[in-house]
Amino acid sequence: MQLSEIYNATKILSVLPSCAEAICIKETESTNNIAKELAMQGASHCTVILADRQSAGRGRRGKSFFSPDGGIYLSLILRERENVPYTVCAASAVCRAIRSFDVNAKIKWVNDVYIEGKKVCGILCERVCDTQHGNAIIVGIGINHSVAEFPEDIKYVATSLPAHVPSRETVAITVINALLSELEDVSASKAYYAENMMLYGKKVRYQLNGEEHIGTVVGLGENEELLIKTNTETVALSSGIVTAV
Ligand code: BTN
Repeated sequence: MQLSEIYNATKILSVLPSCAEAICIKETESTNNIAKELAMQGASHCTVILADRQSAGRGRRGKSFFSPDGGIYLSLILRERENVPYTVCAASAVCRAIRSFDVNAKIKWVNDVYIEGKKVCGILCERVCDTQHGNAIIVGIGINHSVAEFPEDIKYVATSLPAHVPSRETVAITVINALLSELEDVSASKAYYAENMMLYGKKVRYQLNGEEHIGTVVGLGENEELLIKTNTETVALSSGIVTAV
């Protein structure tokens, strides 16, 4: 296990626009909570909050996100633009960043990144409505870096980045940089996402209106839906569990 390096805010700021800030803290309940508060107070576009650990890291659907020391827990405040699929851009960014370290990462629709069938990263995008400063999107990214042991309930489904990957600071900077690039070309980001989904081109089982169906994953829809081709039609699935057959 690598020892976690203390974040260097100046180094992180070097990849951000000049108006942005980098806030590095030891512990918080959730970097997304801090980001939401700061966004309401008028924080600049691209301000990033990084924590060494979280005491109540949050995931989608009210799930918790295991956040011990050493992992990467960051939230980026973005002033909202129309028609940007933030979760898609963030997943593409994390996947590209991890791949740049020679690790075969794949995207698990809709908001996770996996390595060899196990979750290494979760993404939680949240919207802050703010008429005074403009609506903001908080992009929360948690990456298992240097996590030696997972709790019982996730130990068979979670993994940490392999040991050859550089420090969490380098990974965090690579991810932030990648995300800012993805936001420059949303169409390319969507295409990258679709091609790098774990289930792309695979035969899958899914539930729709209480019934089980079988089809093949063929891409990503306009509103982040999973496109599944059956014998008779192409279905756009907006949520639910999809498993390889
Ligand atoms: C998921 O697995 O459903 C998403 C997990 C998102 C975790 C990140 S860690 C940084 C930010 N702060 C949080 O509380 N959640 C996100």
